[in-house]
Amino acid sequence: MQNFNFCSPTQLVFGKGCECEIGNRLAERFPGGRVMMVYGGGSIRRSGLYDRVMASLRQAGLQVREKGGVHPNPDIGFVRDLIAECRNWQPDVLLAVGGGSVIDTAKAAAMGVPYEGDVWDFFCGKAVCTKALPIAVVLTIPAAGSELSMRVVITNEGRKWGTASQAIRSYLSVIDPELFFTLPAWQAAAGVVDMMSHIMERYLTNTTGTGFVDAQAEAAMKTIMKYGRFVHKFPQDYDAWSQIGLAGTFAHNGFFGLGQEEDWACHGIEHELSAWKPEITHGAGLAVVTPGYLSYVARRNPARILQWARNVMEVDPELDESKAVAGAVASLRDFYKSLGMPLTLRELGAGDAPIEQLAERAVAKGPLGHYVPLKAADVAAILRSVL
Ligand code: NZQ
Ligand code: ZN
Repeated sequence: MQNFNFCSPTQLVFGKGCECEIGNRLAERFPGGRVMMVYGGGSIRRSGLYDRVMASLRQAGLQVREKGGVHPNPDIGFVRDLIAECRNWQPDVLLAVGGGSVIDTAKAAAMGVPYEGDVWDFFCGKAVCTKALPIAVVLTIPAAGSELSMRVVITNEGRKWGTASQAIRSYLSVIDPELFFTLPAWQAAAGVVDMMSHIMERYLTNTTGTGFVDAQAEAAMKTIMKYGRFVHKFPQDYDAWSQIGLAGTFAHNGFFGLGQEEDWACHGIEHELSAWKPEITHGAGLAVVTPGYLSYVARRNPARILQWARNVMEVDPELDESKAVAGAVASLRDFYKSLGMPLTLRELGAGDAPIEQLAERAVAKGPLGHYVPLKAADVAAILRSVL
């Protein structure tokens, strides 16, 4: 196990109706303050959440401005506009009401406002973020885990890059699982795939002596699969959504990577796909990439994949290594398929993806991942295997 320094300072408020308290909670820290509310393409208006949050903010005596219209796989142009509006109005806090795309837009703007240069500097490694405006979140989809994570991912002309900073952890995140009842089945399923992947990307490690976190990760993955199936069948079940909401949030706050080297190759490959075609849903891209990745890297480094096959996918312990891995990967595919997720690039709408070019981009910053460091030829082979 490696040394680590972990701080997850977000105040997490969880439960039915808790979004109606958002005004009072923000007013505790910013009495009479200015709130810049950021949201997406309209789901919060259709569900009535917009009205509830606005009423709560106004009743708490806060001043509010809003910027709606964030698209999935959010773009740097929108972020730059938001930065300009924030510099002009000088809000005390950015309130993201939405999913990963809305939260990441707010996070990027929060980094950009106090920074003299262009916000993209943080993503391409020219600058390190140590200061940001405070961020609060009302979560509407359990998926990206951005409500507790220190990461942010933004697209800029075909490059979808992320960066991380302790300064952009939301100081307050509110999760009401009832808000997930309006999710389209596709988005709900993509969210389940994404949170599974956030744990897998950490579980695939070469670090030894990680038994405590391994056991939590294995239990979490099994729980996500169990309740993921459940919410797919019963999308109005509060208790099942609560489990998925909690799992998605903790999947990406850093806990599952404590003391170990993390991988992140599947995310790297998927980000190239959704950077190339922003209509691609992040979790759906992961559903295609992950099984192909597992089959490919198991040939070079089977240890953790075998552990996952036995402890999470519960393959017959008597099976030899290659049969165990093949059986577990087939079960994972069946699970994703049962949720309505695509299993091939063609089903994803990416049958025409420029595989060699995407593979080169995936390794632009060096070999991809740590469990098995991948070169461009490896990434291309993985993508071809799921065409
Ligand atoms: O835009 P609206 O109209 O709100 O609709 C959204 C959007 O179309 C809809 N939606 C969200 N909540 C809803 C709802 N529809 C009905 N009812 C609700 N309650 O769902 C669609 C997808 O929203 P989005 O925010 O894009 O989803 P998600 O949370 O999956 O975020 C994906 C983004 O996060 C990034 C991804 O790459 C992608 O850009 N990620 C961010 C991470 C981070 N910051 O830590 C880590 C992740 O690995 C990921 O890369
Ligand atoms: Zn993800």
